[in-house]
Amino acid sequence: MLKAAVMALLIAIVIGTGPTPVFAQAEQSSPEAGPVETAPGGAGLEQQTPDPALRSVDDVELYQPVQDQLIGRVSIPDAKLATLVQPEGRTWRAFRTEGLFWGSIAVLGVTLAALTGFFLYRGRIRIASGRSGRWIPRFSFWERFAHWTASLSFIALALSGLVVTFGRWVLIPLIGHDAFTATSEVAKYVHNFIGTPFVLALFFMLAVWVKDNIPSRADLDWLRNAGGMLKGASYHPETERFNGGQKGIFWSVVLGGLVMAVTGYLMLVPFAVTGVGGMQVMHVVHSVLAVILIAIIFAHIYIGTVGMEGAFDAMGRGEVDENWAREHHRGWYEQKRPARPYRAPPDAPPSAHGVGAE
Ligand code: HEM
Repeated sequence: MLKAAVMALLIAIVIGTGPTPVFAQAEQSSPEAGPVETAPGGAGLEQQTPDPALRSVDDVELYQPVQDQLIGRVSIPDAKLATLVQPEGRTWRAFRTEGLFWGSIAVLGVTLAALTGFFLYRGRIRIASGRSGRWIPRFSFWERFAHWTASLSFIALALSGLVVTFGRWVLIPLIGHDAFTATSEVAKYVHNFIGTPFVLALFFMLAVWVKDNIPSRADLDWLRNAGGMLKGASYHPETERFNGGQKGIFWSVVLGGLVMAVTGYLMLVPFAVTGVGGMQVMHVVHSVLAVILIAIIFAHIYIGTVGMEGAFDAMGRGEVDENWAREHHRGWYEQKRPARPYRAPPDAPPSAHGVGAE
């Protein structure tokens, strides 16, 4: 008798109160409450209607998630706490613990393998006509200041970010929990505070280099020939101050860096602008773009150091060898040539002096 009464009561509750008893409770306990929120696309009552053939209490489903989501209503100011179950959170967690981990390893691993393969195939790209011993000014102090501030802060952000991505799986087995705790704390501070110099350097780079990075017809020629990198040593496409590849890197870093900054700052002030779902989107964009940018910068560092003879001088000392300039940036070299005589170092052979001014 009692059993039948309980069952009748439960069936009445389920039929009469919409999606879940939890919502029903919320509605009852708060008379001024508005309509109870249901999940998007709110599943209808028919989904909740018990089978008339139910024979026991055990057959009644008390909690049936509506599209796997449970959003209630709270009277405290923090409205996001009304979301009790958020299935996207499981998707995001799977991305964070599996997809991002393996995806990053794949992208960075393939990039490093491709660069190694390219080096084995092509070797170091030499200055075909050898060094002239005469130097052409290429970057001013302020241009190099912008470049090195952006690059050093990028490296700090990349390394500290990768501690977040890989630390738990890679560093703990290597250095243990205590050292990892200290490392990740330092990484977190570095990541939070180096973001600002990075963003300032991006704007600085934009100011000093935007005029040299406007896409042009010459870039198409450069891109069509892959910068001459796959051809013989004597082939050098015509280029301006920056070639198509350098322009691509410039815009990737400036635009990609700004997206990193926006998503990063939004994560620094959680929920200030977006809800739970928005935070997950910010994180996915930030971490995927980070891996893409790091891969691009691997290629940039390769070509600026071991990949090409004479390239590092441009950012290292601010001037380049005349033959390097003629071979890699002929258009820029031709414009620059009459402007001022090129300086030969004091210890250069006599043939180097004055020739550049011809
Ligand atoms: C203004 C610039 C930036 C800000 C404010 C910023 C902020 C943040 C924040 C708040 C996080 C979440 C950390 C956590 O889970 O505790 C994060 C993660 C991360 N950031 Fe940045 N970031 C910036 C730029 C960059 C750049 C330039 C890179 C890479 C080149 C980068 C790479 C990463 C990586 C790899 C993660 C870890 C993602 C993960 O594994 O969950 N960030 N960043």
